Amino acid sequence: MAGCSLQWYMSGVEELKQQAGIAACDFVKDGMKLGLGTGSTIRYTVLELGRRMKHEGLKIVGVPTSESTRELAESLDIPLIPLAEAGVLDLVIDGADEFDPDYNLIKGGGGALTREKIVAQSSNGMIVVADDSKQVDTLGSFDLPIEVLPFEWKRTADRVAEFCSGPVVRRGGKKPFISDNGGYILDCSFGSTITNPSKLESALLDIAGVVEVGLFVGICDAIVMASNTGVLTLVKHDGRLV
Ligand code: 5RP
Repeated sequence: MAGCSLQWYMSGVEELKQQAGIAACDFVKDGMKLGLGTGSTIRYTVLELGRRMKHEGLKIVGVPTSESTRELAESLDIPLIPLAEAGVLDLVIDGADEFDPDYNLIKGGGGALTREKIVAQSSNGMIVVADDSKQVDTLGSFDLPIEVLPFEWKRTADRVAEFCSGPVVRRGGKKPFISDNGGYILDCSFGSTITNPSKLESALLDIAGVVEVGLFVGICDAIVMASNTGVLTLVKHDGRLV
């Protein structure tokens, strides 16, 4: 019985991811230069973009935020260009691990936070696709991912731990997860205490060895959120999409 209900829950969440991922494509216009995020929700966005290109003649070019998204986009014949060539992007669509009422995010569950932030900061707008389990009052229940250099990473982790009341753990343990950039990911257990994400981001970025922090502050402009009652698009009132 327990196995059955868990399976139902998982397929329910998967369906919500698909709904959010597809609904976000309504923001995409012909000719756009688009940042393509990483994760299991945005995967549905990329699949839908590929479908619209093939069957509806949509024309876009993409900049992927990870090697996995690059492979997916290439398999769908979505043309890709380097960011340096694209210049400023019209839009980036990406997933998130958490979002708060101010549209601040925790990202990096897939380990792609550094490329995701580079692409997001190079875009004229950011749309997040998510199911409603990602919505929180205060960030931090999801362990904050931080990309660090492998060089003396334990020292970097100790310095990060000075800011974090819970454990700071290298992702993958003894067989560490290696990011697309060759970095390690520290997962930092703050609990839902991150009331000033901007201040925390700055403090963590000051630590030598920290490559990037999975806090996205003031970058996200809209959230396409799917729940059991439907898909809701939340648009930041002072964001770039109004
Ligand atoms: C990858 C990310 C993802 O966007 C985030 O982890 C959400 O992923 P998913 O849609 O699979 O829940 O930040 O680095």
